[in-house]
Amino acid sequence: MKQAIQIKENMYWVGVHDFNCRHFHGDLFPIAEGTTYNSYLIVDEQVTLIDTVEEEFYDTMMERIRSVIGERTIDNVIVQHAEPDHSGGFLKFMKDYPNARPYASNAGVGIMLKQYFKSYDFQRVKTGDTLSTGRYTLTFVEMPMIHWPDNMLTYVAEQKIAFSNDAFGQHIASYDIFDDAHGAAKCIDRAKDYYANIVMPYGMQVANKLKQIRDMNLDIDMIAPAHGIIWRSYLPELFQAYEDFATFKAVDKAVIVYESVWKHTQMMAEALAEGMGRNGICVKIFKCSMTSPAIIQKELLDAKAVLVGSGNYNNAMAGSIAAFLEKLITCKVKNKKGLGFGSYGWANLVTKEINARLEKAGITLLNDEVVSQNYTPSEADLDALMELGKQIAEEIKAM
Ligand code: FEO
Repeated sequence: MKQAIQIKENMYWVGVHDFNCRHFHGDLFPIAEGTTYNSYLIVDEQVTLIDTVEEEFYDTMMERIRSVIGERTIDNVIVQHAEPDHSGGFLKFMKDYPNARPYASNAGVGIMLKQYFKSYDFQRVKTGDTLSTGRYTLTFVEMPMIHWPDNMLTYVAEQKIAFSNDAFGQHIASYDIFDDAHGAAKCIDRAKDYYANIVMPYGMQVANKLKQIRDMNLDIDMIAPAHGIIWRSYLPELFQAYEDFATFKAVDKAVIVYESVWKHTQMMAEALAEGMGRNGICVKIFKCSMTSPAIIQKELLDAKAVLVGSGNYNNAMAGSIAAFLEKLITCKVKNKKGLGFGSYGWANLVTKEINARLEKAGITLLNDEVVSQNYTPSEADLDALMELGKQIAEEIKAM
């Protein structure tokens, strides 16, 4: 029988591992080693379940729950987020525990109905509302748009624990469920990966929410998110990292993303990279079609500049670059500069279009000139691009 893991007195992790998950949220976020869907059980005079799991893992969650409470009933279920990785087991749960009182944010109640076409007697809660389970008082904090309208966090003051749902999540799938087993560097890096791919467009909301939580003076020594490990040893590092992510704090770094058939655009990318790299800039260079979008997203988060290159294919940019730019426009990045570049044969249209899309993404152009190349770059052309890379390096350092 699968067992729950105690995380605090009377509080248990009753989640599941999804070791085979390689594409999180459809194909939006390729991941390497699977993830977890974390549910938590609070055993008090009333028993409360915080979130369920993906429907297919419901029985595993129930095994872990029964390892703690046996056949005792569950009085409350808190739906912190209606997305199916956390609510997929809800219908089965309500069948097994028809007298359980469900709680959700107002938005959450609406989404649950639209997703599952079944109405329940939800208690609609907002920030500051509480639920007393006996010894413990659960306080709800709405977290709208981190990263759906309905997300919320549940805080238990007596145990100094915040159940944060998607916020502060990461994809570490392990039986060592606390951060200290993995080291700060890995945990923060995975949190960055998750933030960049799931939360990045909502940096403003994250910054405001962090401020609100600070202003509420919640005494927290453990954060239990809905994915990955539980934070107890690296909370200062985690809060600092989230502040940095939310404000797009950047380093002297440029990301170059390009697509190239006959290597002409690739030669341009590498000349620009050389010019920047030789002049003190960390350069990450990716052939778009060969790279997981999750890797590029993560590198973008703290880069000051993004350079995007494509050849001209029948007057259009490469499909991979078009998709990359489309996503970039949704990311609402702040304080970044950028530049399009690329080679062409008979019509020089694509670089201008890349620049237009970069501007649409809120990115300031590094150069007024169109950086394009007719067929193969000569040595002189490449030297000129290296020189341009050097100038861009100085501009990045001055940002
Ligand atoms: Fe982990 Fe927004 O679902």
